[in-house]
Formats: sequence, C-alpha cells, structure tokens
Amino acid sequence: MIDFKKELVDCIYEAENSLSKEEIEDLIEIPPNYEMGDYAFACFRLAKTFRKAPNLIAEELSKKISGEKYFEKIENVGPYINFFINKNKLAQTVLKSIETEQDKFGSTDIGKGRKVLVEFSSPNIAKPFHIGHIRTTVIGNALYKIFKFQGFDTEALNHLGDYGTQFGMLIAAYKKWGDREVIEANPIKELLKLYVKFNAEAEKDEALKDEARYWFKELEDKNPEAVELWQWIRDVSLKEFNRVYDMLNIKFDSYNGESFYSDKMPRVIKEMESKGLLQESEGATIVDLESYDMPPALIKKKDGSTLYITRDIAAAMYRKEHYDFYKNIYVVASQQNLHFKQWIKVIELMGYDWAKDCVHIPFGMVSLEDGTLSTRKGRVVFLEDVLNKAVASTLEIMEERNPNLENKEEVARQVGIGAVIFQELFNNRIKDYVFSWDRVLSFEGETGPYVQYTHARANSLLEKGKFQLTDEIDYSLLKEDDEINLIKLLYNFPDAIVDAMEKFEPSFITRHTVEIAKAFNKFYNSCPILSVDEDLMKARLMLVYGAKTVIRTGLSLLGIEAPNKM
Ligand code: ARG
Repeated sequence: MIDFKKELVDCIYEAENSLSKEEIEDLIEIPPNYEMGDYAFACFRLAKTFRKAPNLIAEELSKKISGEKYFEKIENVGPYINFFINKNKLAQTVLKSIETEQDKFGSTDIGKGRKVLVEFSSPNIAKPFHIGHIRTTVIGNALYKIFKFQGFDTEALNHLGDYGTQFGMLIAAYKKWGDREVIEANPIKELLKLYVKFNAEAEKDEALKDEARYWFKELEDKNPEAVELWQWIRDVSLKEFNRVYDMLNIKFDSYNGESFYSDKMPRVIKEMESKGLLQESEGATIVDLESYDMPPALIKKKDGSTLYITRDIAAAMYRKEHYDFYKNIYVVASQQNLHFKQWIKVIELMGYDWAKDCVHIPFGMVSLEDGTLSTRKGRVVFLEDVLNKAVASTLEIMEERNPNLENKEEVARQVGIGAVIFQELFNNRIKDYVFSWDRVLSFEGETGPYVQYTHARANSLLEKGKFQLTDEIDYSLLKEDDEINLIKLLYNFPDAIVDAMEKFEPSFITRHTVEIAKAFNKFYNSCPILSVDEDLMKARLMLVYGAKTVIRTGLSLLGIEAPNKM
C-alpha cells in the first residue's frame, strides 16, 4: 500500500533539502477535519531557521512542492500547507491491498524472530471464575492476537493460582467435611463452600489454622495423599475454567501455574542470597526495597514457606531461560501494581537487564451496577453465568428479529459472547468500568452486535451482487464523500493495530472498527449499490468487500467472531 505520509516527506524534502527527512516528518500534522486536507505541514518552527515569517515560508514552499503524483491539491493557508490525497490513488491502493492480502491486511512481520509471552487470565484454582476475571482474560487474549498479527512468535500463558497456603486449608477442610461425589458434581461451588466454612470455623478454633499449615507443608514436601488431593482439586477446577475458555474461544499454550515453579525456587533464593540481596527480618527473609520507596519483598515466611512474589521471580527467570523472550507481558489488575514493581525491581537488582522486558499491563476494576463485587459476601457473579445469559438473551432477540435464521443457536453464541467481549474492550483498559446488561445487549450504538450486524449486511450485499474479485475495477468512480471517508478509515486500520500494540491497548482497534462500521452504514444509506450501472456497482461492491474484510479482521483481533448472517 502506498505510504502517503512517506511520499509527502519525500516531496517536501525535494523542494527544501536543507531540512532533514526526520525534521520534515516531525512537522507534519493531521488536520482536525478532512476539509482541511489529509495532512498539513506546519511552518511555525521554521521561522528561526529561515529567519522569515511562518506565513511567508509556507507560501514560498508551497509553490516549490510538486506532489501531483500523490496529492490532488496542495494549498497554502496561513502558516500551513495543506495536502489532499489523490482519491483515485487512495481507493486503488487500499482496495487492491485488501484484495491481495485479504484477512492478512493490516498485518506486518515486524515481530519476526522475536518471542512475546502474554500471560493472562491466571485464575485461582478452587475459587470462582467470576465476572472480575473477564478483563484480564479478554484484554490478554486480544493482546496475544495483536502481537501475533504483527509477526511476533507469541505464547499465551495461564499462570494458574494453583499453589499456596489456601491449599492447606482446602485439604484440611476436605478431609473433615468433604464428599468427593458432591464436589465432582459441582466442583467450584462446593470447594468454595468448604473454603468459606473452614475460614469461619478457623475464626473460632485456632487449631484449624495449624492443620491448614500442616497440610500445606505436607504438600510442599510431596506427601502423596496431599499431592493427590491437590492434583484432583486442580483437575476439577481446570475442567470448569476450560468450559469458559471454550465459550470464549480462547486457547492457552501453557497452564504452568504457581505450583510449576515450586521446585524452581530454592535455586533462585540461593542466587539472591549469593548476590547479597537477602536480609532477615523478624524471622522472615526479605529483599529490602526502601531505597526504591517500596515496602520489602517478602521472599520466605518465618516457617520457611515461600510466597506469591517468590514464585513470580522464579517464573520470570524460568521464562527467560526457557523462551528467551523479547517481551514478557503480564495482564493483571492494577491492584497488583506494587507487587509487579517490587518483583521486577528484584530481578533488576539481581543484575538482569531483561527486567525491563517484563511489562505489567494493568487495568481498572469491573463492578456491577448495584455495587461492587465481593466474593466474601457471596455476591459472586460467575463469568459462565454471564456468558450463558448473554447467549440466551441474544437468542430471544434473534427469534424476534430473524426467526428463520439457520443455525440460530450458533449465531446467538457468537453474538452474545461477542457483545460481552466488545463492551469490555471498548474503553481504555485502565478505566474502572460498570458492567451493564442494557449496554452489552443493545444492537444499536457502539456495540458488538451493531458491528457484527454491519458485517453481515456487507456480506449479504456481496451475495446479492454476486461479487467476485476482479482486476477490472475503475476506482476513479469512487468519489463520493461517504465512499472516500470509508476508504480513509480502511487505509488507517493498519496504524490502529500498531497503536494498539505499542500502547497495549486493544480499545484502539475496537473504536476504529466501530468507526468503520458507522462509515459503512453511512455509505450504504447514501450510495445505491445494486441498482447502479455495472461499472459503478463493481467498484462499490469492491468497497463493500474491503469494509467487510477489515471489520472481520478487527473483530477477530479482539477475539470476536463475525457471522455472515444474523
Ligand atoms: N492468580 C492471581 C489472582 O487471581 C493472578 C496472577 C497474576 N499473575 C502473576 N504472574 N502474578 O490474583
């Protein structure tokens, strides 16, 4: 695809080579609206260099620039030179690129040969997989796909919370009150009950706490009974989590969780020790981080058991050795900001310069419309229930809107789940966010169903027009404003992906995809497509095809499917 900005730099450079190309690129702006051109070259900062008024510089320079090949109009307005892209060239380069690249349009190979790890979701075993987990799960999955699309060798990691003192409690509770069959019928709910009961009883009876500690120690020491119970709890929990991942169409390359690192810690602790990082503090072992304005990192408890942070340090070291990553990304709630700052600092203090390649990507909280989430008070909203409800409500809407639709159940699944994911990825990730059923399931406005519906509409136009890819298209016929606006958005789609990647912000893609859908509908309402003469119809159908392809890619990068009919 033609890079018009680069061509513009070259044109200006040819006319004024006392400026470097970088300087020129720096002075190029995107005007606030299309009427003012596609690019503007601002001459204020040149006044000093040329000892002339910016207006005069702009006026003289605009006469010297010859850019007819790419720009249909070059206009001097005050201290600016405005450039209008040649519409015919634009339409041709965009639509031809989409035609050849199809669902690869917007991808690059900038990541070639480099490994990116995206760790996301990472729920705790034996605990509910609730609505609060949706954020890490879908943001992480989108980032995974975005990096992959840019050619990185990408791994999706699920750092399961499958280790820690709570397993001591669970084992102790199970041995007292547990019933295998009851648990297997309904693992998470029953395990949670045991957990809650144990905590309540332990409030009254200190001895229970000792029992829990005892069983965790047995687990660490590989007592077969403890290991067997732990393994069973892990298996039944994971089976439940996998149901949700299947609904969301998410796959992980590794489920190595905290337990995986348990036997990798002694070596790491030794290394910290030999590097002089460890200190005793009230019987525990810590890394003092006071000079970095942080509380100490607690590496080992008084009783010798290790902690969450120790496992993260061991995990990062393992990952560096095992994957030799270029970036090691963690999609984890902003409540854990300090935790990540602490352990990444410890890695740095150990002398590893790859500490800078470990990136924590935080996000804000999700709450319910009627108050915050609370696991303790039993106000757990299971993610699976939310997804099922979204699918069921969508099916109802489908029955009304399109009762004869084939495959209604499957489409309702794609749309219902897509709706939830889309809402999640619409706002800046760092913002707190209130989950609202009304918003999620609306077919109007900036929603998943709206974008999916637009995609299906484009598809039906292509079918009705018996569209086929062909070279005989007269792109100069595409010149209406609504056509050109849509083409410009398609042209900018690859940049939106790069922005999303660089800022770890899928919402750039969500928003750009909605803009394309809106522009498509505007075009569809103002430009007849199937009732015009053949040449124009061919050109417009090609644009429909371009929009459909790009919307599909945008949705797919977000982890959302795009049914052809709905
Ligand atoms: N299991 C943790 C939780 O549910 C999240 C794990 C985040 N990842 C990490 N490497 N610490 O809070």
